[in-house]
Amino acid sequence: LLPQLQESEITATIGKLASYANRYYKNNVGARASNELADSWRALAAGRSDVTVSQFAHSFVQKSVILEIRGTVAPNEIVVIGGHLDSITPQAMFSPTGKAPGADDDASGIATLQEVMRVLLQTGYQPERTIQFIGYAGEEAGLLGSKAIAKAYATQGRNVVGALQLDMTAYQGSSSDITLISDYTSTAQDDFVAALAAGYLPELSVVRDVCGYACSDHASWTANGYRASFPFEAAFGEDNPHIHTTKDKLVKFDNSAAHAIKFARLALAYA
Ligand code: BES
Ligand code: ZN
Repeated sequence: LLPQLQESEITATIGKLASYANRYYKNNVGARASNELADSWRALAAGRSDVTVSQFAHSFVQKSVILEIRGTVAPNEIVVIGGHLDSITPQAMFSPTGKAPGADDDASGIATLQEVMRVLLQTGYQPERTIQFIGYAGEEAGLLGSKAIAKAYATQGRNVVGALQLDMTAYQGSSSDITLISDYTSTAQDDFVAALAAGYLPELSVVRDVCGYACSDHASWTANGYRASFPFEAAFGEDNPHIHTTKDKLVKFDNSAAHAIKFARLALAYA
């Protein structure tokens, strides 16, 4: 399936998401971005009775989006591949027309996981375990969407066997390809992800680094007792300097998904 992943699909999805004025979790534009993402995912799922798309409502207007492919052998074992669909800038916090394109942070992660979803669905792939692709709402305001979802799943006793976070995949700021963030993650699963890369993608260089704080949605899964990993675009501090500004646009990574597609390959191998 790896050769079917297309850079052009990822670039196009980033462009579409970055063209909203913003995807701020508290305004109607941000709510619409979630609704239209759910519409796109429903279109990809058309004709598959084992695939459902739902929205997870929160205490704010933007909903998280979940596409689930039901597992054929162990449907109660859930594998999560996620990223955050919201964006933030001071301008967007101030006004619903304020710009927060969030092309790298984190349209890139959503576009990356959506490309994995597209290939799995269009080839008729049926996983043995259930796979959930999740676009989290409200990450930029304190991991709000993922916290609510991971807590609800834990309360319901759901068996999430692993979660992979894709947050910023498009900007190559380091000489290595993939940085596995290794705080607030599962070392055992990080080792598994590194082994996937070594086995399926031997051309990629993988290094490890830390955020130093609960920097993205992987931390919500970890906090609720689940295994999570976070392959990131660069070493911490060498990542895209334009995030959370009106300049977080495709042009800052040459309108290219050449870096992001490595993360799509890794996420496909993980799936
Ligand atoms: N994508 C960032 C996290 C990030 C930024 C990781 C730079 C590594 C390097 C994420 O969307 C974010 O901005 N997180 C917040 C923390 C969150 C709890 C609000 C942050 O890093 O300030
Ligand atoms: Zn951010």
